Amino acid sequence: MLVILCPILAYIFLISQQTIQQIQSRIDIIEIVGSFVKLKKRGSNYLGLCPFHNEKTPSFTVSPTKEIYKCFGCGKSGNTIGFLMDLEKYSYVEALRWLANKYNVEIEETAQSEEQKQLQQSADSLYIINNFAQQFFSNALLHSEEGKDIALAYLKERGFREDIIKKFQLGYNPSARNELAQAATAAQYNPELLQKSGLVVMRDGHLSDNYRGRIIFPIHNQSGKVLGFGARVIKNNDKAPKYINTPENEIYIKSRVLYGSYFARMAIDKADECLLVEGYTDVVSLHQSGIENVVASGGTSLTPDQLRLIKKYTNNLTIIYDGDSAGVKAALRGLDLAIEEGLNVKLVLIPGNEDPDSYVHKIGAEAFRNFIKENKKDFILFQLEAAITEAGNDSTKKAALVNQMAETISKINKTEEFTKRQDYIKQVSEILKIEEAGMNALVNKLIRDKVLKEENRNAFKPGPSAEMGTESTDEGLTFFNTDELNEQAFLRSLIEFGNNPWDESNTVAEFLFTQIEEFGADYMLDNTALVRVFETYKKWYEEGLKPTAKNFLYHEDRELNAMVINLMDYSTEISHNWKERYEGHIPTREELFKEEVLSTLNYLKLRKIKRLIAENQTVMEKSTNEQDQMLCVDMHIALKKLEKDLTGAMGTVIFKI
Ligand code: UTP
Ligand code: MN
Repeated sequence: MLVILCPILAYIFLISQQTIQQIQSRIDIIEIVGSFVKLKKRGSNYLGLCPFHNEKTPSFTVSPTKEIYKCFGCGKSGNTIGFLMDLEKYSYVEALRWLANKYNVEIEETAQSEEQKQLQQSADSLYIINNFAQQFFSNALLHSEEGKDIALAYLKERGFREDIIKKFQLGYNPSARNELAQAATAAQYNPELLQKSGLVVMRDGHLSDNYRGRIIFPIHNQSGKVLGFGARVIKNNDKAPKYINTPENEIYIKSRVLYGSYFARMAIDKADECLLVEGYTDVVSLHQSGIENVVASGGTSLTPDQLRLIKKYTNNLTIIYDGDSAGVKAALRGLDLAIEEGLNVKLVLIPGNEDPDSYVHKIGAEAFRNFIKENKKDFILFQLEAAITEAGNDSTKKAALVNQMAETISKINKTEEFTKRQDYIKQVSEILKIEEAGMNALVNKLIRDKVLKEENRNAFKPGPSAEMGTESTDEGLTFFNTDELNEQAFLRSLIEFGNNPWDESNTVAEFLFTQIEEFGADYMLDNTALVRVFETYKKWYEEGLKPTAKNFLYHEDRELNAMVINLMDYSTEISHNWKERYEGHIPTREELFKEEVLSTLNYLKLRKIKRLIAENQTVMEKSTNEQDQMLCVDMHIALKKLEKDLTGAMGTVIFKI
């Protein structure tokens, strides 16, 4: 079932591992990046102007040996595939296909299950059918008498230019019963798939066109392939629905579709803002006026998948709706999620009975742009104002409002969003005429409650241990950093030295796996991304691969490869006592790998023991019967002994930035 819901995922796994390896081995990062960015050689690296942000002095570096790029201005980094994904907004698979094409690597598809095969074939066929239909519709619109007289005339009367009609591949489905059905059948398309595509329906034993007499809006995916269609009646009448849309099938999944995203992606990236409107015609009209960073949600509330799609391009979402549209309410639902995701949501209401399409025609592109700029309202404050009006003089409603706003603001809870949150607290308190400090306390309480709830969910998992950190506070590190750095150092030694021999029969990786297994893997690593790095490494290792940092670099999961780039990139300083111990020749990390492996491992072990001790103490304080208490005491003694052994064994390496 999962496969059916995730045709895109199924697709990812179709390129064989061999093909991926082949592509990887041919990649020359300098050549690929160099075809988009002018690069100059500087030492062992290359330097250029960053394509991801505006800059005058180059801070974008590419390292041919590490096979990564990194911009010291905006912080973007990644491998060649990531570069193509960021710059061209390709998916992982699209980037691989692009590279395969460039390097003439034949793409080999892996063996699939029968079910997968059928799904894939049916998805492929649906794309092919849609492509056929799109051409048929375009042709009917632009070249048939009926199309020109009725449909094209209608579009032109509404002010759509021919170049825009062609760009968006608008079309027309003739009004006869089955012109498309006949053409498709003659071209040997499978009748069942044709029905699945929604283009035709079975009526009285015959295939008939489903969108007869309608203007056709093809809906494209991220790479420009036609997923489905929206079909609009030409003359509004009460009997027929205004639009008929493609039914859900393997490729058209409504909750993931954003109309216009294919045409908008570059502009969104450039403007660092995505405009969201309701209708197909709004998107097309705004484009025609030169406002290209615009997509449509199809009149329903935004889904998490759509939000994610937008977030791929920008953090700034501006919703443009007609003021009295029912759509506004629908759009506002689900926006809490957007806020939680860190999107900055703004709202603009179009006055009167206009919608963006009619309004831009009325006032012109320039005025429209200005209108948007000047009337953008912050979504949270907008919500507040609307609620205040609704509450009127009702004091219970007003009190409820305070809580409701605190709840919304508490969703802005990422560390980096601190300033933004404080800003809201200030503004909302002013509008509600309450003490800022009170609002602040309320919001903080809600965030705390949420964190606690989360922690409870993870059973007992004490936060980073303060005790461990105290050793290095004099070096100006927060407790958390020390913990995190040591977790990173542990993984780095695994990735870097994992294939080295540890003793006669084991590699470093094998040694570490056994150690961690014996010690109990839970609570060893806090950072969930690092846990994934560890588990991925282990899985590869057990599959017989000798994993290196490079395997991670080309992993399809961007979070994983960014994590590993950071791990391998960061320079550690050897702490003072090492220098003293090895006077004169300072040994390299390679020479000292065993010591590094042991000390990072021991740090994590010791931290876990300290946590267990603390946990045990809490249990002891809470327990009321003597037997339990005795058990706790025994446990305490055992743990303390372990702690002592480890402290003795532990190297003195403390990693610092
Ligand atoms: P609108 O009624 O605003 O349509 O619905 P529109 O696209 O702006 O068309 P014009 O300008 O009146 O010609 C907004 C969106 O809601 C969806 C469509 O995606 C439409 O673009 N919708 C509307 C439907 O799916 N079905 C309908 O019957 C009506
Ligand atoms: Mn409209």
